[in-house]
Amino acid sequence: MKKLRVGVLISGNGSNLQAIIDACADKNFPAEVVSVISNKETAYGLERAAKAGIKTSAIRHKDYPDRNAFDEALHAQLIEDGVEFVCLAGFMRLLTAEFVGKWENKMINIHPSLLPAFKGLDVQQAAIDAGVKFSGCTVHFVTPEMDAGPIIVQAVVPVHQDDTADSLAERIHKVEHQCYPLAVKLAGEGRLSVKSGRVFVEGEQDVVAGQGFLLNSK
Ligand code: GRF
Repeated sequence: MKKLRVGVLISGNGSNLQAIIDACADKNFPAEVVSVISNKETAYGLERAAKAGIKTSAIRHKDYPDRNAFDEALHAQLIEDGVEFVCLAGFMRLLTAEFVGKWENKMINIHPSLLPAFKGLDVQQAAIDAGVKFSGCTVHFVTPEMDAGPIIVQAVVPVHQDDTADSLAERIHKVEHQCYPLAVKLAGEGRLSVKSGRVFVEGEQDVVAGQGFLLNSK
C-alpha cells in the first residue's frame, strides 16, 4: 500500500505527535511519519520521534533573521524528507502566507477549542471565563489567517464548573489524541476535499457512526 508521507512540526511535548505515530504503527494505516521538525531543540517530541526511528530536525527560529528565512528552511527540510502532507502539532510559530500557500490543502493543525470559538492562545481559560458548557478540539486545514481554515474533525467535551485551565486542557487532550489520527487517516485515504471553505468527507456517515466524532456538525 502506498502510504501518505507525513511531516509533523512541533515545539514541545508532542503528545499529538505520539498519537499519530501510534496510529501509524498499524500496517493498514494509510500514512507514515517520515519527518519531525521542531523549532526548539529541547522539545520532548523530538525524543518521541527518535525512539520511533523517525528522522528528526531542529530548525531553530532564533537562528534566522526573519520569518521568511525560517519558513524557507522549514520548507526545504520538508522537501528533502519527501514530505507530502504536513501536520502542525503544538507548533508555536506563525507561518507566512507564502509558506502556507505552498502547502495549501496539504497542511493541517489541531486547536484546543471548538473553532471558530476561542482562537489564539490560552483558550481553555477563555472558554471557562465565557461560561460555555462544552468545549473540545478542532482539526482544520491551515490557511493564512490563524485558526480559521476549513474544519475536518471536531470532538466535544463538557466544561465543568470547577474546571481549571489545566483540568480542561487534560480532558481536551484526550479527544485530541483520537481526532488527529482520524484526520490523518482520512487524508491518507484521499477522502477529504475542500469546497467554498468547507471540508467534504467521502463516506462521512461511516466515519461518524464508527468513531462517534462530529464531522461538519451533522
Ligand atoms: C495541543 O493542545 C494542541 O491543540 C495545541 O497545542 C497542544 C500541543 O500539545 N495546538 P502536544 O505537544 O501535542 O502534547
